[in-house]
Amino acid sequence: MAQVTINVNGRQVSGEVEGRTLLVDFLRGKGMTGTHVGCDTSQCGACTVHVNGEAVKSCSIFAIEANGQDVSTIEGQEAEDGSLNTIQQAFQDHHGLQCGFCTPGMVMAAADLLKNNPKPTEADVRHHLEGNICRCTGYHNIVKAIMAASGQDVSQIAAE
Ligand code: FES
Ligand code: FES
Repeated sequence: MAQVTINVNGRQVSGEVEGRTLLVDFLRGKGMTGTHVGCDTSQCGACTVHVNGEAVKSCSIFAIEANGQDVSTIEGQEAEDGSLNTIQQAFQDHHGLQCGFCTPGMVMAAADLLKNNPKPTEADVRHHLEGNICRCTGYHNIVKAIMAASGQDVSQIAAE
């Protein structure tokens, strides 16, 4: 066992982990269950968080690798006044979710995209989401929501 301390959403979170403990399991074990586990093959993206500002599938790294690092999860994404942030609001406005299981990972992936590419094309968005699977197949509206969150006109994007 090893002691780790990770800065999660601006708060120091410490715990004992085994060498094999995945970051996603550490986060969920600390009550941050918005980070989902949708597969055991690192394919679905439901567990996407940011580590030092970069999108990472938290099932693909060990908690011990995140020791001392800055991690952001869906729980830390709200606006300063506690309301939905721009991306979350756009998902609500454009019906970018159905069952919602993939949504935290989609929002985290979208935030990563818009940070690096504030005005993505529809093709950019689709390419960026290649590592995120929506089992409800709600991709059109997810893409539309992310385009809307970037401040672009989405009236020409077909609704699902
Ligand atoms: Fe991490 Fe599916 S749970 S990619
Ligand atoms: Fe159900 Fe994407 S909304 S998995």
